[in-house]
Amino acid sequence: MSHSETQAVRTEVVGKAGLIILNNPPVNALGLKLREGIVDALSELNGDANVEAIVIYGEGKAISAGADITEFGKTPKLPTLPEVVNAIETSEKPVATVLHGVALGGGLEVCLASHARVALKGTLLGLPEVTLGLLPGAGGTQRLTRLVDLETAIDLITSGRKVDAAKALEIGLVDQIGQGAPRDVALKAANDIIEGDLKTRVTGELTAEIDVDVLAAAQEKYDRKRPKLIAPIKAVEAASHAAKPIQEGAKLERELFLELMESPDRQGLIHAFSAERATRQFPEAGAQPRACDTAGVIGGGTMGVGIATAMLLAGITVTILETSTERADNAKAAIEKNLASAVKRGKLSEKARDERLASLSASADLTDLSDVDVVVEAVFEDLAVKTEIFQKLDKICKPGAVLGTNTSYLDVNDIAAATSRPESVVGLHFFSPAHIMRLLEVVVADKTTDDVVATALAMAARMKKVAVRSGVCDGFIGNRILAHYRKVADYLLLDGNSFEQVDKALEDFGFAMGPFAVGDLAGLDIGWATRKRKAPTRPAEERYVTIADHICENGWFGRKTGRGYYLYGDSKSREPNPDVVEIVEQVRASEGIEPRAVSDEEIVSRYMTAMISEASRVVEEGIALRPIDVDAVFLFGYGFPRHLGGPLNYADRVGAAQLVAQIETYAKEDPHYWQVPSLLQKLADSNGSFADLN
Ligand code: CAA
Repeated sequence: MSHSETQAVRTEVVGKAGLIILNNPPVNALGLKLREGIVDALSELNGDANVEAIVIYGEGKAISAGADITEFGKTPKLPTLPEVVNAIETSEKPVATVLHGVALGGGLEVCLASHARVALKGTLLGLPEVTLGLLPGAGGTQRLTRLVDLETAIDLITSGRKVDAAKALEIGLVDQIGQGAPRDVALKAANDIIEGDLKTRVTGELTAEIDVDVLAAAQEKYDRKRPKLIAPIKAVEAASHAAKPIQEGAKLERELFLELMESPDRQGLIHAFSAERATRQFPEAGAQPRACDTAGVIGGGTMGVGIATAMLLAGITVTILETSTERADNAKAAIEKNLASAVKRGKLSEKARDERLASLSASADLTDLSDVDVVVEAVFEDLAVKTEIFQKLDKICKPGAVLGTNTSYLDVNDIAAATSRPESVVGLHFFSPAHIMRLLEVVVADKTTDDVVATALAMAARMKKVAVRSGVCDGFIGNRILAHYRKVADYLLLDGNSFEQVDKALEDFGFAMGPFAVGDLAGLDIGWATRKRKAPTRPAEERYVTIADHICENGWFGRKTGRGYYLYGDSKSREPNPDVVEIVEQVRASEGIEPRAVSDEEIVSRYMTAMISEASRVVEEGIALRPIDVDAVFLFGYGFPRHLGGPLNYADRVGAAQLVAQIETYAKEDPHYWQVPSLLQKLADSNGSFADLN
């Protein structure tokens, strides 16, 4: 047995088997050391007369999650991934790969270039590059189309969807399912190759059946998507070259890949990928979390039901509390319905559903929460109601229980002060529907202790949520920023734009729905109640637009009443509500406003500049830890277009100096609303960026 070692790749010869062992924790990303190591190892084992078959396998949790994302945007170092893949495919001795954990992106491309593939049960395989604004750039589009039928290949390449090992075997992506530890499977694979029991072949020498109709259908599908995401379109184009000889097709694919590498979409999508992970870095993250195996959720409305569902799905035992047995039973039934729909969508097995349901109970007696680890209060947004509940919880709950409030605007310090244990109180602001939306704002009050914050974080991880730490302020990170920039939409409407134009301009920019359509969906009565609550503290200089109030006075609250800004009939299309158009005209006339519509570009500019301004203040005041936390809030809670990477990532694209200039221009009309935040001014003066502060 010979043995040579590099840090990330080592070789081992066992009998006639030459093993290439990848060891680059946590996910064997194919950074420079791994790429160099694989090429060196191939050359070494090909030169070893004892070796008859070579097998690559990984240590740790996966064979490989693909190219090292942290190297993107930097000068590429040789060997490149296509060179590694080429070295595998052209190896004189047969090379097999053992797949375990995940085989993604470049990691799967390494496997595709091997001469045989054995996957462990449960391995997930996929080419997620499009989700990062890229396409497989190391022959993935060329080899996948040679191994599986074109329709399946196009689907995997353009969706980034993962398939499990069983499915991969069925479609021809792998040759065998292996059992045991990767190393044992690797040794067996080498032996099987030598004995002729595992067939090897050169993928690049197979022919791809290219059906132009399939390509055209895929192209058309992605052409229609708004805003046009370029990566899937280019990926289809790359696949269309698969009928050419492998070297030629791979070269064309690489050119398209490098083109995408330079695109702003790629930067934004990778920023979004990083944002999800960056938010886990809390100052309190090192504290030992308290237990969070059992929970009480107070309030059986949409929010409470969603929160309870999310907790059950995470394996937490839940008691849902309501004011009467009947209401508690209704809430329980709503949770059951959510779980049934998870089963229907293939997210949960029937057996798992039954297990989860067995750990759900409903009650109208608060003392039933005496023994739970965590309580989340999700009742009506009223400080008096909430403080009363917390006073009771203080008496009932066991020492050490974490007491969470799902308030979306109220001061968590005031709620904490209602108890004798403010250190255990934390804001847990979920987003509706709470079992679907990934964002959780963890609102840290003055006295919240580190272990309570760490518990919230641990619970969020269990629920697969993106937890973002927020300080206390009106609306925390997300709703505070929203409350500010949302006014711009009303100003644009009052000053002369139609609400359809505002919605459409922002939808073309990338938002799934414009602000007026969102208002209709969320219920216009919610904003109305907030405006009434804030009326006494509204500064006299603030421009106030009364249009939405007039709409609500008619009882038109949006979708749920069949009409709001739009009319909602049987068809899915939205029709502008002519009565609202009339209200708008009346309000303009009564205020003596001469309507002046601005361009789509200016709509977007005003809206985004307002959003960035308040986001900048939220960072400056330390409400958000870093700009990337604000980005995460908007990406995972507010449907912000992922390819733009979040409002402050987008701000860096526009540039601080340009943003300041825009604010100064708009301030000529409304100096109260448009004020340059000092952090933005500082960045403009120093030619700095929000990215520098992450
Ligand atoms: N490159 C660099 N780092 C990576 C990485 C990659 N491809 N994939 C994951 N990581 C890092 C994560 O950033 C994270 O780092 P921190 O602990 O410092 O936060 C760590 O590995 C663990 O990742 P997760 O927290 O996400 O762990 P998980 O178990 O929840 O998920 C995973 C693991 C499924 C692999 C997930 O990380 C993932 O989907 N990764 C991205 C996979 C991907 O998109 N690959 C394609 C890359 S592009 C490519 O390969 C194209 C090409 O040809 C050049």
